[in-house]
Amino acid sequence: MFLFIIPAWLPLLLLLSVLLVMMKKVIESKKQHPPGPPGLPLIGNMHQLDALVHQSLWQMSKKYGPVIRLKLGSVSLVVVSSAETARQILKVHDIETCSRPKLLATGIFSYNYLDIGFTPFGEYWKEVRRISVHELFSNSRVQSFRYIREEEVALLVRSISESSASNSPVDLTEKLFFLTSDVIRRVAFGGNFEKNKCEKGGFQREINETMTIIGSFAASDFFPYVGWIVARLTGLKGRLQKSVQALDAFLQETIDKYEGHNVEEGNEDLIDVLLKIEKQHKEQGSATLTRTHIKAILMDVYVGAIGTSQITMVWALSELMRNPRVLKKVQAEIRDVIGNKGKVNEDDVEKLEYLTMVVKETWRLHPPAPLLAPREVMSQFEVNGYKIYPKTRIHVNVWAIGRDPKIWKEPEEFLPERFAGSPIDFKGQHFELLPFGGGRRICPGSNMANTLLQLTLANLLYRFDWMLPERLSKEDINMDEAPGITLQKKTHLVLVPVAHV
Ligand code: HEM
Repeated sequence: MFLFIIPAWLPLLLLLSVLLVMMKKVIESKKQHPPGPPGLPLIGNMHQLDALVHQSLWQMSKKYGPVIRLKLGSVSLVVVSSAETARQILKVHDIETCSRPKLLATGIFSYNYLDIGFTPFGEYWKEVRRISVHELFSNSRVQSFRYIREEEVALLVRSISESSASNSPVDLTEKLFFLTSDVIRRVAFGGNFEKNKCEKGGFQREINETMTIIGSFAASDFFPYVGWIVARLTGLKGRLQKSVQALDAFLQETIDKYEGHNVEEGNEDLIDVLLKIEKQHKEQGSATLTRTHIKAILMDVYVGAIGTSQITMVWALSELMRNPRVLKKVQAEIRDVIGNKGKVNEDDVEKLEYLTMVVKETWRLHPPAPLLAPREVMSQFEVNGYKIYPKTRIHVNVWAIGRDPKIWKEPEEFLPERFAGSPIDFKGQHFELLPFGGGRRICPGSNMANTLLQLTLANLLYRFDWMLPERLSKEDINMDEAPGITLQKKTHLVLVPVAHV
């Protein structure tokens, strides 16, 4: 019989080798994660983000590169900040990344994720998306609402003419908000949702209240349990539920008025269309679209459309006031094309090439959704050699892409001419300019939004010359951004209109 005598150092050697292998694995897995600033236990990188999150992330990307990883509470976040990495996410890996995270706030707001914007990828989303693209926001549907846009813009021009007659300043931030909300209210709710009820009677007020509350405990998305407890203790949860119930009652009452409503095809508003589809689904024995879904979709349209379109117009006019050369040039183009017709209509807008460049330049510097909407990874993939794992939340920093000196010469300057002769548009195929996002989740309302805002800007610039209120110069225009999911201008834009004969 042989006896093995084990030397005393052998187990130690074995242990060391195991440790070395483990360390190598940890180092390798770290290498495969995108880089990012080191965070603190529990909160991760939360403390390194300022109120203007897209700007903090831009600074980080300058240090760590176009793909960065952060930890916010329990959530892993990856942010991409170059046109090429945006292409990787929105095109090459669109299918792996086209879900949405279940955000607490949007979940409550949208009746438990039943709407299009915040629905995770799946059969329900595909069906609602199909309805949105082919029924709600198709070219022919957008065209059918042309008379609403032209009527509402004419009303706006009339009210500004009154201010111009008395030389009074106009709060354009407010006026343009009401213009977009009036248009969307009529498009979505037809004549069954009275203007007064919408504005003064509470719908808009309840939406504002809901958004404020959501904003004040957004952190609960990153610390789910703690956030909820805080919301309960502070009474925010109760307030939120009350607001959401009020919104639900408004929508229910509006929809109830459609009972027995028969309109010709082509004259339908969005509720008509949705109720027709609900009926078809019932007849086919599938209950994909129910009343609750309809309410969620309407809410989504109302909220998604108003802020974003108004923001674009406010930033565009602010940039024009700061850049008199561009203002003069765009007004000359419009007045030249329209002559003395008295107003711009939608057919004319197509001829206004420089105005389109002004809008693109506005979206480059002031994209209304600077980080797009969050995407959630469904299956593992790689970007720039880094591994991105399921459940990671992804943001595309389009605000940073719009300022990338590798793409744009003099990126901080407002120079619409940079788009002259350039194929770059905003339809999600050019990753340098992505105001509406891209891929499967691209904004379905881009056509509707663009038509309204170009028509409005064209009329305001055709009919009026614009002056700054007394004693202010163009350097005094405050271009600061307000914190929030959408990129509002911090202060209202107030100008004096002078009627142009
Ligand atoms: C200037 C105006 C607008 C801008 C800049 C804008 C921007 C966006 C962006 C960035 C997204 C997310 C895209 C992504 O994740 O890749 C989005 C989604 C969405 N937008 Fe818009 N939007 C505007 C107007 C509108 C209008 C007028 C409507 C409806 C009438 C609308 C309805 C929606 C909906 C329903 C979604 C969710 C799509 C989905 O997740 O499947 N938006 N929008």
